[in-house]
Amino acid sequence: MRAEGRVVGLVPTMGALHDGHASLVRAAQEQCQPVVVSVFVNPKQFGPKEDFEKYPRPIDADRALLEGLQVPYLFAPLAAEMYPNGFRTSVSVEGLGERLEGRSRPGHFRGVTTIVLKLFEIAQPHFAYFGRKDAQQVRLIRQMARDLNLDTEIVVCPIVRDADGLALSSRNAYLKGDQRRAATVLYRALDAARHDIAAGERDAVRLAGALRKKIEAEPLATADYVEIVDAETFEPVLRLRRACLALLAVFVGSTRLIDNMLVEEQGDSLSIAL
Ligand code: PAJ
Repeated sequence: MRAEGRVVGLVPTMGALHDGHASLVRAAQEQCQPVVVSVFVNPKQFGPKEDFEKYPRPIDADRALLEGLQVPYLFAPLAAEMYPNGFRTSVSVEGLGERLEGRSRPGHFRGVTTIVLKLFEIAQPHFAYFGRKDAQQVRLIRQMARDLNLDTEIVVCPIVRDADGLALSSRNAYLKGDQRRAATVLYRALDAARHDIAAGERDAVRLAGALRKKIEAEPLATADYVEIVDAETFEPVLRLRRACLALLAVFVGSTRLIDNMLVEEQGDSLSIAL
């Protein structure tokens, strides 16, 4: 299809598809024809104590959703096809992936970049679509694409949320009863920070402190990390300038949720994407 001059788009996922994934498909459909969606619960990006076994795998519902979106190609390989006996190679981006998610989930990003590179090699997409919900993931994938001269352009799409602000995630299915309500604390905290920033707050340390306090006020939630970082380096900042990300990882019960807000300088003011 590339040889025929068609523009190939890839949307890599782990399935249990929701409107966040659908938004990536729609973005892909605006630029590409055909669009390929991959569904693969990648064992290499789960830690030994993580939820690989219980991760939802509703493949029939996923297939139906993709048919509804008129996606012509679903790539859903078996683990033994992606990692046959004797598989030995991995790719990792140095430096950017050691803090935050990388620190909480050792080996996670190596698993992500390895599978994404394999998916790019298999599908050979001109464009590949990722959500800003996983901000550090997409930063690393961009770095990999640049460093390894990949012929795939990385497109980042906005975060899709439920009506109450909770970022859509396949892991939201784990939340039971009161936990689902408590899970909105990530959005509530970021939204309060957005108001503080709009009112002129630029001190990142104070903002991070307020975010943490808001999360600690929710009895069912425990903060894993709360940080405001430079969007390029992922190093903590003291004041908001250029492009920054407020990053949250929070446990609600045993479910680990992440969310973030992007703050960018725009002339004399700041634009805030939540
Ligand atoms: P998964 O969690 O299934 O997410 C697939 C893609 O959907 C990612 O790019 C993610 O950022 C995006 N996404 C998830 N929730 C979103 C939301 N609420 N709004 C917008 N986009 C959202 O991320 C992975 O799978 C894997 O690590 C993968 C890249 C497929 C490699 O295995």
